[in-house]
Amino acid sequence: MINKVQRLIKKSTNVVIFTGAGMSRESGIRTFRGEEGLWKQYKPEQLSSITGLQAQPELVWDWYKKRLITGEGVIPHRGYDALTHLQKLKGSLPVITQNVDGLHRLSGQTDVLELHGSMRTASCLVKCGFSTELTTDLLGSMPPHCPWCGNILRPDIVLFGEPLPAEVISRSYELADNCDLMLVIGTSVQVWPAAGIPFAALDNGATVIEINPAGTELPCNENVISVRRKAGEILPLLVGLKE
Ligand code: OAD
Repeated sequence: MINKVQRLIKKSTNVVIFTGAGMSRESGIRTFRGEEGLWKQYKPEQLSSITGLQAQPELVWDWYKKRLITGEGVIPHRGYDALTHLQKLKGSLPVITQNVDGLHRLSGQTDVLELHGSMRTASCLVKCGFSTELTTDLLGSMPPHCPWCGNILRPDIVLFGEPLPAEVISRSYELADNCDLMLVIGTSVQVWPAAGIPFAALDNGATVIEINPAGTELPCNENVISVRRKAGEILPLLVGLKE
């Protein structure tokens, strides 16, 4: 099966990458669902929503601060290096991600579409126009306030109940509608509208290669090839970086 997947990746001319939290698991970032998932421990609506942020800004920001501090020591694993290598080989290889950790860019990839925004920056909650890089210095006094208007800052990620950035979602669907191969890596394919992207690829007749040690919402049919392995282990092999 590995040989078949290697051949497919090599011969396909219009490849798109679609990733989720499992892509960063081997860099030490926890996933959202499953036994060790973050949402077993925390309520999304309390920690990842505008109302939660307005009601308990210190609690919410404390959670992001912990994630940021953990994230600062995080580096992309060899699965990321493999995608960077593949991007160079292919010339064009758009990367659509649900992750907010910025690891695709950090590993040197370009054309990265961040569907759920990025934890690397923050901006004013009332949209006065202030925006800044999110550093631990900024989080010295909690919750962080906007130096321009005094309101609370928010991380630049898509919070529950908020729409996805319109241009990013529309380009993502356009890519899915036109690709011949999509690599779906480390996502449970459960959160919409992002989850519709691999389905759009299947609807257009593309092959989907799913890289995930567990099963997902994707169907079992001749257009879906499931590689039940960890991203960091298998990607270097699939792109020819490792024998
Ligand atoms: P999930 O936590 O739902 O799914 C993570 C997937 O990664 C699971 O299917 C795991 O089996 C798989 N996985 C775990 N370790 C892996 C590894 N080493 N290699 C490959 N796969 C591995 O995360 P997402 O699908 O990304 O949204 O969740 C989507 C959205 O739900 C997130 O973007 C976030 C969350 O609520 C927002 O914050 C808006």
